[in-house]
Amino acid sequence: MIELLVNGRPVRVDAPPETSLLHVLREHLGLTGTKYGCGTGLCGACTVHVDGQPVFACQTASGTLAEAEITTIEGLSETGDHPLQRAWIAEQVPQCGYCQPGQIMRAAALLSETAEPTRDEIVRHMAPNLCRCGTYPRIVKAIQRAAREG
Ligand code: FES
Ligand code: FES
Repeated sequence: MIELLVNGRPVRVDAPPETSLLHVLREHLGLTGTKYGCGTGLCGACTVHVDGQPVFACQTASGTLAEAEITTIEGLSETGDHPLQRAWIAEQVPQCGYCQPGQIMRAAALLSETAEPTRDEIVRHMAPNLCRCGTYPRIVKAIQRAAREG
């Protein structure tokens, strides 16, 4: 049995401790906003926050997270109006959309530590998250907008 705190809610999951956080989120808790891309720590589609830091959920064993605060895209804001979510819509960032929850979660971690990042800081910070559709320029613009408009 694994006990976790996900989006502010304590949950118990009947799974071995080595089960990946990604599997627990999607298959046990039905939180499918977090995407399964490569499953090997190469794409960032599965990015969530553990104690405010972006991590690859596919590479994180759930059994190591007993004391941690886990946040997924579903828990980023109550009504989907986090400044980044508003900026993402304003800048029309997504194409296929698959990578986008992970992109937003990584961007949210950046803005929580650096309110007004430079373009270089944004590009560097976002580098682990790939987008096969090539939305990178709009991702940068949306992060800049969210930083500006808060
Ligand atoms: S699915 Fe986790 S890094 Fe690609
Ligand atoms: S929007 Fe399609 S992979 Fe990023």
